[in-house]
Amino acid sequence: MEVLNLHQLQTTAQLADQQNQALFAQVANDLTHKGYSIQPFALPLDLSNRLLAQVLSMSPQSFIEAGIGRSTEHMRNDFVRRDEICWITGNSEAGAQWLDWTSQLQSYLNQHLFLGLFSFESHFAHYSAGSFYKRHLDAFKGEANRVLSLVAYLNSDWQIDDGGELVLYQNEQDLQGLKVVPALGTLAIFLSEEFPHEVLPAQRDRYSIAGWYRINSSSADRVDPPR
Ligand code: OGA
Ligand code: MN
Repeated sequence: MEVLNLHQLQTTAQLADQQNQALFAQVANDLTHKGYSIQPFALPLDLSNRLLAQVLSMSPQSFIEAGIGRSTEHMRNDFVRRDEICWITGNSEAGAQWLDWTSQLQSYLNQHLFLGLFSFESHFAHYSAGSFYKRHLDAFKGEANRVLSLVAYLNSDWQIDDGGELVLYQNEQDLQGLKVVPALGTLAIFLSEEFPHEVLPAQRDRYSIAGWYRINSSSADRVDPPR
Protein backbone atom coordinates (compact mmCIF):
# COMPACT_ATOMS: atom_id res chain seq x y z
CA MET A 1 0.00 0.00 0.00
CA GLU A 2 1.22 3.45 -0.82
CA VAL A 3 1.77 5.74 2.13
CA LEU A 4 1.41 9.45 1.60
CA ASN A 5 3.80 11.71 3.42
CA LEU A 6 2.74 15.07 4.78
CA HIS A 7 4.00 16.93 1.75
CA GLN A 8 1.97 14.78 -0.61
CA LEU A 9 -1.11 15.17 1.57
CA GLN A 10 -0.84 18.93 1.36
CA THR A 11 -0.52 18.81 -2.39
CA THR A 12 -3.59 16.55 -2.63
CA ALA A 13 -5.58 19.08 -0.61
CA GLN A 14 -4.18 21.93 -2.66
CA LEU A 15 -5.10 20.16 -5.88
CA ALA A 16 -8.67 19.66 -4.69
CA ASP A 17 -8.74 23.32 -3.78
CA GLN A 18 -7.52 24.35 -7.21
CA GLN A 19 -10.14 22.17 -8.87
CA ASN A 20 -12.84 23.76 -6.74
CA GLN A 21 -11.60 27.25 -7.59
CA ALA A 22 -11.64 26.45 -11.32
CA LEU A 23 -15.15 25.04 -11.03
CA PHE A 24 -16.40 28.01 -9.01
CA ALA A 25 -14.93 30.37 -11.62
CA GLN A 26 -16.80 28.57 -14.41
CA VAL A 27 -20.03 28.67 -12.42
CA ALA A 28 -19.61 32.40 -11.73
CA ASN A 29 -18.92 33.07 -15.39
CA ASP A 30 -21.98 31.06 -16.51
CA LEU A 31 -24.21 32.77 -13.97
CA THR A 32 -23.06 36.18 -15.16
CA HIS A 33 -23.68 35.43 -18.82
CA LYS A 34 -26.60 32.99 -18.77
CA GLY A 35 -28.07 32.92 -15.26
CA TYR A 36 -27.51 29.18 -15.00
CA SER A 37 -24.68 26.68 -15.06
CA ILE A 38 -24.77 22.96 -15.80
CA GLN A 39 -21.60 21.17 -14.71
CA PRO A 40 -21.47 17.46 -15.59
CA PHE A 41 -19.54 15.29 -13.10
CA ALA A 42 -18.21 18.36 -11.31
CA LEU A 43 -18.79 17.73 -7.61
CA PRO A 44 -15.59 16.27 -6.11
CA LEU A 45 -15.79 12.50 -6.55
CA ASP A 46 -14.99 11.74 -2.93
CA LEU A 47 -17.82 14.01 -1.77
CA SER A 48 -20.26 12.58 -4.36
CA ASN A 49 -19.51 9.04 -3.23
CA ARG A 50 -19.90 9.90 0.44
CA LEU A 51 -23.23 11.61 -0.17
CA LEU A 52 -24.46 8.67 -2.21
CA ALA A 53 -23.42 6.23 0.54
CA GLN A 54 -25.16 8.46 3.09
CA VAL A 55 -28.44 8.68 1.19
CA LEU A 56 -28.47 4.92 0.55
CA SER A 57 -27.82 4.18 4.23
CA MET A 58 -30.77 6.25 5.44
CA SER A 59 -33.91 4.45 6.51
CA PRO A 60 -37.09 5.13 4.52
CA GLN A 61 -38.50 6.68 7.71
CA SER A 62 -35.94 9.50 7.49
CA PHE A 63 -37.69 10.79 4.39
CA ILE A 64 -40.88 12.79 4.44
CA GLU A 65 -43.23 13.32 1.54
CA ALA A 66 -42.42 16.63 -0.07
CA GLY A 67 -44.93 19.46 -0.17
CA ILE A 68 -45.39 22.62 -2.19
CA GLY A 69 -45.82 26.29 -1.36
CA ARG A 70 -44.71 28.54 1.45
CA SER A 71 -44.63 27.13 4.95
CA THR A 72 -47.97 28.58 6.08
CA GLU A 73 -49.79 27.05 3.16
CA HIS A 74 -47.53 24.08 2.79
CA MET A 75 -49.44 21.25 1.18
CA ARG A 76 -48.79 17.87 -0.23
CA ASN A 77 -49.82 17.63 -3.81
CA ASP A 78 -49.35 14.31 -5.55
CA PHE A 79 -50.20 15.87 -8.86
CA VAL A 80 -47.27 18.29 -8.70
CA ARG A 81 -44.54 16.30 -7.02
CA ARG A 82 -44.00 12.79 -5.75
CA ASP A 83 -40.54 12.91 -4.24
CA GLU A 84 -39.61 12.35 -0.60
CA ILE A 85 -37.10 14.55 1.16
CA CYS A 86 -34.76 14.73 4.16
CA TRP A 87 -33.19 18.04 5.20
CA ILE A 88 -29.40 18.06 5.53
CA THR A 89 -28.26 19.25 8.94
CA GLY A 90 -24.57 18.47 8.99
CA ASN A 91 -24.99 15.75 11.63
CA SER A 92 -23.52 13.16 9.31
CA GLU A 93 -19.95 13.43 8.09
CA ALA A 94 -21.09 13.51 4.47
CA GLY A 95 -23.68 16.17 5.28
CA ALA A 96 -21.07 18.30 7.07
CA GLN A 97 -18.65 17.96 4.14
CA TRP A 98 -21.43 18.97 1.73
CA LEU A 99 -22.27 22.05 3.79
CA ASP A 100 -18.60 22.98 3.89
CA TRP A 101 -18.35 22.69 0.10
CA THR A 102 -21.55 24.68 -0.50
CA SER A 103 -20.32 27.41 1.84
CA GLN A 104 -17.06 27.66 -0.13
CA LEU A 105 -19.13 28.15 -3.27
CA GLN A 106 -21.23 30.73 -1.44
CA SER A 107 -18.14 32.72 -0.42
CA TYR A 108 -16.73 32.58 -3.93
CA LEU A 109 -19.96 33.81 -5.53
CA ASN A 110 -20.35 36.55 -2.95
CA GLN A 111 -16.81 37.75 -3.56
CA HIS A 112 -17.01 37.64 -7.32
CA LEU A 113 -20.65 38.38 -8.17
CA PHE A 114 -21.75 40.35 -5.09
CA LEU A 115 -24.85 38.23 -4.77
CA GLY A 116 -25.11 38.74 -1.02
CA LEU A 117 -25.97 35.10 -0.42
CA PHE A 118 -26.65 34.85 3.27
CA SER A 119 -27.72 31.33 4.10
CA PHE A 120 -28.16 27.92 2.56
CA GLU A 121 -30.66 25.13 3.07
CA SER A 122 -30.73 21.76 1.32
CA HIS A 123 -32.35 18.36 1.37
CA PHE A 124 -31.80 14.93 -0.04
CA ALA A 125 -34.58 13.95 -2.41
CA HIS A 126 -35.64 10.47 -3.37
CA TYR A 127 -37.79 9.91 -6.45
CA SER A 128 -38.99 6.33 -6.58
CA ALA A 129 -39.88 4.78 -9.94
CA GLY A 130 -42.72 6.78 -11.51
CA SER A 131 -42.04 9.90 -9.45
CA PHE A 132 -41.69 13.36 -10.96
CA TYR A 133 -41.87 17.05 -10.14
CA LYS A 134 -43.95 19.12 -12.55
CA ARG A 135 -42.76 22.41 -14.01
CA HIS A 136 -42.30 25.04 -11.28
CA LEU A 137 -40.20 27.97 -10.07
CA ASP A 138 -38.24 27.69 -6.82
CA ALA A 139 -38.99 31.26 -5.74
CA PHE A 140 -41.82 33.68 -6.11
CA LYS A 141 -40.84 36.91 -7.86
CA GLY A 142 -40.44 39.87 -5.55
CA GLU A 143 -40.35 37.81 -2.39
CA ALA A 144 -36.57 37.80 -2.48
CA ASN A 145 -36.25 34.58 -0.59
CA ARG A 146 -34.53 31.89 -2.58
CA VAL A 147 -32.01 33.49 -4.89
CA LEU A 148 -29.90 30.67 -6.26
CA SER A 149 -30.87 27.00 -6.67
CA LEU A 150 -28.26 24.28 -6.58
CA VAL A 151 -29.04 20.67 -7.46
CA ALA A 152 -26.50 17.85 -7.16
CA TYR A 153 -27.16 14.38 -8.55
CA LEU A 154 -26.28 11.12 -6.85
CA ASN A 155 -26.95 8.33 -9.34
CA SER A 156 -24.21 6.10 -10.66
CA ASP A 157 -24.68 4.38 -14.02
CA TRP A 158 -27.74 6.38 -14.96
CA GLN A 159 -28.95 5.26 -18.40
CA ILE A 160 -30.93 7.26 -20.96
CA ASP A 161 -33.86 4.86 -20.48
CA ASP A 162 -33.93 5.66 -16.78
CA GLY A 163 -35.60 9.02 -17.54
CA GLY A 164 -35.71 11.37 -14.56
CA GLU A 165 -34.00 14.24 -16.37
CA LEU A 166 -34.16 17.76 -15.02
CA VAL A 167 -35.58 20.02 -17.74
CA LEU A 168 -34.48 23.62 -17.34
CA TYR A 169 -36.51 26.19 -19.27
CA GLN A 170 -34.99 29.53 -20.29
CA ASN A 171 -38.09 31.52 -19.36
CA GLU A 172 -41.88 31.28 -19.01
CA GLN A 173 -42.30 31.01 -22.78
CA ASP A 174 -39.73 28.28 -23.36
CA LEU A 175 -41.43 24.93 -23.98
CA GLN A 176 -38.41 22.96 -25.12
CA GLY A 177 -35.93 23.36 -22.30
CA LEU A 178 -32.55 21.86 -21.67
CA LYS A 179 -32.32 18.30 -20.37
CA VAL A 180 -29.87 17.39 -17.64
CA VAL A 181 -29.11 13.72 -16.92
CA PRO A 182 -29.06 13.16 -13.13
CA ALA A 183 -25.68 11.40 -13.14
CA LEU A 184 -23.46 11.19 -10.05
CA GLY A 185 -21.58 14.45 -9.47
CA THR A 186 -23.50 16.55 -12.01
CA LEU A 187 -24.52 20.00 -10.78
CA ALA A 188 -27.29 22.31 -11.94
CA ILE A 189 -27.17 25.87 -10.61
CA PHE A 190 -29.65 28.56 -11.62
CA LEU A 191 -31.31 31.79 -10.50
CA SER A 192 -34.35 30.63 -8.53
CA GLU A 193 -36.79 33.28 -9.77
CA GLU A 194 -35.83 33.05 -13.44
CA PHE A 195 -35.82 29.44 -14.54
CA PRO A 196 -38.90 27.24 -14.57
CA HIS A 197 -37.89 23.58 -14.41
CA GLU A 198 -39.29 20.10 -13.94
CA VAL A 199 -38.21 16.56 -13.18
CA LEU A 200 -39.41 14.02 -15.73
CA PRO A 201 -40.72 10.69 -14.40
CA ALA A 202 -37.86 8.48 -13.26
CA GLN A 203 -37.93 4.81 -14.16
CA ARG A 204 -35.87 3.78 -11.14
CA ASP A 205 -34.84 5.19 -7.76
CA ARG A 206 -33.38 8.63 -8.33
CA TYR A 207 -31.41 10.56 -5.70
CA SER A 208 -30.51 14.23 -5.68
CA ILE A 209 -29.79 17.08 -3.33
CA ALA A 210 -31.73 20.28 -3.89
CA GLY A 211 -30.47 23.39 -2.14
CA TRP A 212 -31.12 27.11 -2.09
CA TYR A 213 -29.05 30.12 -1.20
CA ARG A 214 -31.08 32.92 0.32
CA ILE A 215 -30.45 36.58 0.85
CA ASN A 216 -31.17 38.06 4.22
CA SER A 217 -34.59 39.43 3.50
CA SER A 218 -36.28 41.22 6.33
CA SER A 219 -39.87 42.35 6.37
CA ALA A 220 -41.45 44.37 9.18
CA ASP A 221 -39.85 43.19 12.42
CA ARG A 222 -39.08 39.74 11.19
CA VAL A 223 -35.65 38.79 9.96
CA ASP A 224 -35.18 35.37 8.45
CA PRO A 225 -33.11 33.24 8.53
CA PRO A 226 -31.29 32.46 10.79
CA ARG A 227 -33.34 32.43 13.91
C1 OGA B 1 -36.64 20.92 -6.44
C2 OGA B 1 -36.18 20.49 -7.78
C3 OGA B 1 -34.79 19.12 -9.16
C4 OGA B 1 -34.13 17.78 -9.23
O1 OGA B 1 -36.50 20.14 -5.48
O2 OGA B 1 -37.15 22.05 -6.33
O3 OGA B 1 -36.52 21.16 -8.72
O4 OGA B 1 -33.63 17.50 -10.32
N1 OGA B 1 -35.38 19.41 -7.92
O5 OGA B 1 -34.11 17.02 -8.27
MN1 MN C 1 -37.17 23.15 -8.11
